[in-house]
Order: sequence, then C-alpha cells, then structure tokens
Amino acid sequence: MNTHLQFRLSKKTPQQNLLFLLALAIVPLAFSQTPPVAPPDDATVRERANLLLKQMTLDEKLGQLSQLFDFAPSKAIDDAVSTGKLGSLLFVTDPAEINRLQHLAVDHSRLHIPLIFGFDVIHGFRTIFPVPIAMAASWDPSAATKAQTIAAKEARAVGIDWAFAPMLDIARDPRWGRIVEGAGEDPYLGSAMAAAQVRGFQGDYIGAPDHILACMKHFAGYGAAIGGRDYDEAYLPETLLQNVYLKPFHAAVKAGIGSAMSAYLDLNDVPATGNRWLLHDVLRDDWRFTGFVVSDANSVKSLQNHGYAKDVYEAGLYAFNAGVNMEMAISFTAYSKSLATALEKNQITVQQIEDAARPILEMKIRLGLFEHPYVYEARAHEILATPEHRTAARLAAERTAVLLRNGGSLLPLKTSAYKKIAVLGPLADSQVDTLGSWVFQDDLAETVTILAGLRNRLGAQADLSYAPGVQIRRKIPSFFDEIFHLKPQPVWTTEQSKDEMSKAVGLARSSDLTILVLGEAQNMSGEAASRESLDLPGQEEKLLESVAATGKPVVLVLFNGRPLNIKWASEHIPAILDAWYPGTQGGNAVANLLFGEAVPGGKLPITWPRDVGQVPIYYAHNTTQAPENQEKRYWGEESTPLYPFGYGLSYSKFAFSNLKLSRSEIKPGETIDVSVDLENTGATSGDEVAQLYIHQQYGSTSRPVRELKGFERVSLAPREKKIVHFSLGNEELTYWSTAKKDWVEEPATFDVWVGADSTAKLHANFAITQ
Ligand code: NOJ
Repeated sequence: MNTHLQFRLSKKTPQQNLLFLLALAIVPLAFSQTPPVAPPDDATVRERANLLLKQMTLDEKLGQLSQLFDFAPSKAIDDAVSTGKLGSLLFVTDPAEINRLQHLAVDHSRLHIPLIFGFDVIHGFRTIFPVPIAMAASWDPSAATKAQTIAAKEARAVGIDWAFAPMLDIARDPRWGRIVEGAGEDPYLGSAMAAAQVRGFQGDYIGAPDHILACMKHFAGYGAAIGGRDYDEAYLPETLLQNVYLKPFHAAVKAGIGSAMSAYLDLNDVPATGNRWLLHDVLRDDWRFTGFVVSDANSVKSLQNHGYAKDVYEAGLYAFNAGVNMEMAISFTAYSKSLATALEKNQITVQQIEDAARPILEMKIRLGLFEHPYVYEARAHEILATPEHRTAARLAAERTAVLLRNGGSLLPLKTSAYKKIAVLGPLADSQVDTLGSWVFQDDLAETVTILAGLRNRLGAQADLSYAPGVQIRRKIPSFFDEIFHLKPQPVWTTEQSKDEMSKAVGLARSSDLTILVLGEAQNMSGEAASRESLDLPGQEEKLLESVAATGKPVVLVLFNGRPLNIKWASEHIPAILDAWYPGTQGGNAVANLLFGEAVPGGKLPITWPRDVGQVPIYYAHNTTQAPENQEKRYWGEESTPLYPFGYGLSYSKFAFSNLKLSRSEIKPGETIDVSVDLENTGATSGDEVAQLYIHQQYGSTSRPVRELKGFERVSLAPREKKIVHFSLGNEELTYWSTAKKDWVEEPATFDVWVGADSTAKLHANFAITQ
C-alpha cells in the first residue's frame, strides 16, 4: 500500500476507513486530476511531508531535488523516474506522455511519490494572450489574473502542475530582449501585476482546482543585465535592489507564491544561483518564503562558467548551500554528482537535504498530486482553446493596445470612408509573429493575423489587398527558432526585394488607406534576443517613409516587445497603435480597435526613448542639481522621452480636477486619502487610467522625482464623472534608505500629482511630521 493511502487511512476510524476504501474502489482515481476543494492546513501538510521523509532513502531525497528537461521519451529518464531518482520534469506537454511518466513514478517507485511537471506557461498555454509587457500596459491587474487563470486551467488540463511564471524582472533597458516577458520599468506597477498573476495561476490557494503552482523568476536582478545583453552580469546598488528590483518579488511572496527560480546572472559578483544573501537571507529570513527555489536551466553547473565554482562538485555544493532546493538541468544535474559525496565528506548534513526536499514534497501534497496524479486525457481536449478562452484573449488584446498618436482623429476609422485598403508589412499576415515569444503550444492555424482580422471585420465592405513589402530577419539566428520549430524563410534576392517594395508602395498609392504593420518578428524579442539598436529592423523604415510619401492616410500598427525607434513616424504618421504581440486573437482585436468597436485605453509600462543612446531612461530618476533643464542633457537631441511612462491616448478625452487630500499633515504610520474627479469630456465611452505619483522632497537619501503609488483604470461613458480614491500610508511612503540601512518613513514634505501619465500636472502637498 502506498504512503499517501496509508496516511489517509491512519487518520480515520475503522468505519471511515471502510467507506474510504469502498470509495477508492468505485471512484476511478486514475482519471481524475481534480485537486482538493479546500486548502489543506499547514500542519497536516508538514506532517505528511515529514512522514515521507522518514521513509525515504538518501537517493530518493536527492531525487526530489532534481529536475530534467524531457524533449522526447528516453530510457534514462524512465529509469530515474521509476526508481525515485527524479522529482520533476519540464517540457512534457502531451497528456498521454504525462500519464505514462506519472504511472512510472506512482506505480513503480518505492514510495509512489508523483512527479511535478513544469512548463513555461508565460502568456497562455494553448490560447495565447498578449505578451506580459502588453498585459502590464492594460494597467488592469484583474485582466492579468483572468489571463493566467485561463492559462492555468489549460495547462492543468494536460497535466502541467507548475508554470515558470510570472517573470518579475524590472527592466529599464529596452535593448534587453526579455523586457517583453515582464511588466516594464516600475516597481509599483510590477508589484501589482506580480500579485495579480500569482492569483491567476494559483487561485485562492495552492492546489485550488484548475490552478497550478506559480514560480517567480528570475530571482533577482536579471533585468539589469549590463548593456542590455542577455545573461551578462548586473551591478545593482542596495537602493535599487531594495526599492526597485526586489519589490515585485516581495509582492509575489506576500501573495502566497509557492516557488521561485534563481536567475542566470552574476549579481554584484555573486551569481544569483549561488547567492545565499538573496536566496536565504532576503527570501527566507526577511520575507518568510516557505516554498521552494528551482535553479534556472543549467544555472547550477554554470557557477563554474562564472568563475565562482572550481568544478561541478563545488557548483552543486554552493547552489545547495545558497538555498536552491531543486536543480533544473538539461542533462544530468550537478546535485546528482555532488550532494551524496558532500554528505560523506560532512560538508552538508542529512537535515539540510531534508530541509531542501520538504518544501518540494509539500507543494506536491498541496497540489493534490498524491491523490490525483493523473490527467483525464479526454477532458484536456475539451478545455483547450474553448470559445470563451478565445473571447477572453481578444478582450485582453483590446485592453492592452496603446494608442500613441492620433493626428486629426484619423482613428477610429469609418467603415464607409475607405473602400480600398492596403494592408502592408512583413508582420501583417504572420501568425507566429502575432503570438510573440514563449509560445510552444500555439495553434497557428487558429491565430488571427491583422490581415485576417480586418477581413473578418470588413467582409465585402472593403477591398483589402496585402503585400509584405520587406523581409525582416535576425542577422544572428536564435537558438529558440529550433525549439519553436521555426523554418527560416527563403531569402529574397535583391531583385525580389525591389519588386516587393514597389508592389507594396504601389498598393498604398492605389488605395484610400494603408494599414502598415511593422515592428519586430517574435524571435527578435525574448530570451537571447537583445539588440544594440531600437531601429525598425531591415528596410521597414524605408517602407514606412515610402508609403507615407504617397500622401494617402496611413495607420501604423506596431508589433513589439520593447519600445522601438519611431521618431520619424511620431512626426509624420498620423495614427500609431502599439499592439505589442497581441496573441491568438490579435487580428480581431486590432480590427475592433481600428474601427472603433473597441476603444484603446492601454498605457505605456515603460518610458519610450527617442533614441537608443538615451538608454537607460526611466521616469523615476533622482532629482539633480540642475532640474530645470532636465530636457537639455544632450546637445544633439532632447533628453526627454518620446512618450513618457504611463502614456496612452483614447478616442475620447478625459479631465482630472479637484485633487483633494484628506489631511495636510500625518505622522509616520498614518494614512491620507487622496481623491480626484475624473470626467469623460469626449463623445465616446472609453477608459482612462488615473495615476498617482509622489515625490519626497528631501530625506536621508535623494528620492526619485516621481514614483507611482496608485492607479486605477476607469471606464466612463461620455460626460460621466467619477471620484477616484487613493490611499497613501506606510506601505507607499516607506523606502529603503542606504544611509540608514533600514526601511524608513521620514518626516518630509511630499508632492502628489494625479493625472493621465507620469507628467501629470494636477498637484498638491502634504507633510509627514514627527
Ligand atoms: C531558461 C529561462 O531563462 C527561464 O525563464 C525558463 O523558465 C527556463 N529556461 C525553462 O525553459
């Protein structure tokens, strides 16, 4: 009899036991992955984990600490699973294969401990939502919760129990490719999005039905990779770590996240995967995190590459001592090579090994894997990509688009005004590029491109023509292309390139309107997709300028995971809509937005530079000795951004007025209510995001000129008015002072601004007094 059954029986009276066994006989447990309907209490979970640990051999305990990639069935993996030498696998997504492997673990291994299956469920599993930076542009945490709830449900339906998301790396350098995977530059917005995603993945508790375990990554500082170069080192002073980079992670821990992934990078000369201060002192001691830490892929072994560990033995030992519970590796793990020997040499203890394995077992217990290890394969197909999930993906894409420019109110387009429309650009009809990075389970056939979305919307009402105009590709290919099974397109000859360009410009000339879809292909943004430039790739700028030269109205739709250099467009193209990578339903969403069925209300979660030379540029910089000419830092170009953080237009107009503070003075620990009237003064229903910024005028250290400390996305009908309330208290007014080496709420005067972006003008003051 297996352990979990023994345990369950031992807790019951004989009559209950009989009923329980009867129930076991009639309920086909083997096909029901319906986890518990209420959270198990912590003491019971601990007791069960300890009971298991007592029975486990050293090899079995160490097995729980190992996770391997499984790209295809292999005898080595099967053997390790059947003998309890592997605790987890990643990258298996076929429910039948998941069941097969789980049967090996549950039926064959000595203690019947199930595997936990992990996967990169980043912005959807089968139904693909907009990329994470786009979700942050919604400024609507509930939209992020909804998207990850659906992603969790689809993943769980095939037997995946654990998502390697959310990515919580603050990123202030758009050259870094992975900026697309996070919430942008701001710790407050990033924290709200972090907590929202944890709720989406995990539900009300770890193990909630149809939910999965979340994993915050990459802990920590990865977004500050020097030069924006992926995997390179970061140097982050304490003030930035505490006040900016660690904040979203702390928010995720407060929201109850069950796992964390250590980052690849070398942080302040101590690689994150071997960084005990980070993984132990901050995470466990300060934040009281009780889940488990998994390394990033191969990052334990990489401690050797960093020049931190002498050999694989030391690498395993250092990561283990730093606080990495589970090692993720492509082939063998360093842990399998080092920990048993380290124990023999008395460099580590059995107690430490048990402490590392316990939270992993506890998560498996919480997830209900012992009772419900298998997945019901037929149900999986019912759940994936249902019409409701598709609708949610479309609504999310509508909510995340940011309207950057709308000269002469060109948008929304009137259906009757344009009979001939040219849809141009290499991304206009590309399904894979509509989805964005980290998409493995995409159903390309169902992905709606911009061209297809416009066709769906306009039907016979307009004559649509299409041409790509240019080809774009990376000069240095991405290794992800292979993983994503992307076949390179045949490269056009010089002659073909000329013909394609003239064909596209010709179509623009003979049409009443051009919708130009430009930006980056999906493999230009993401992991290993950093850039030295933010220019539109290839000949896109040339296409843009040539199309504009036809004199016909042009709408530019952008696909991007980072701000791009659109300086010329921002002066010459009347309408620019940033669609990011909008996901499965992207085309339908963009068509709805362009034709006014939906109204853009997204706002930038990142400062948009004029030129790559301004990078890093972010709104929350410090006050300087010459604040009055902040825009004149360079002599060749204004040093202000092209579009500020928090910026985004609507088809309607909004007015903020009547900024009121409930008190003009508070003591530390007290709270102020801030209210503002927000009115839709335009003729269209739409959304505005009320944003509150503060500035502490003086203190024990310099403070940023502005810091976001509240926001709310509000929907208003024409002439409708709403009073928006914010609360400023200890949480918002405390910061880490490097001078005091502590979290402080200091007596000082504070500015408050509320408005539509980080340049908001409506202003008030208050003071904290002793
Ligand atoms: C490496 C990436 O850095 C991480 O984000 C991802 O979760 C793992 N590989 C697994 O695919």
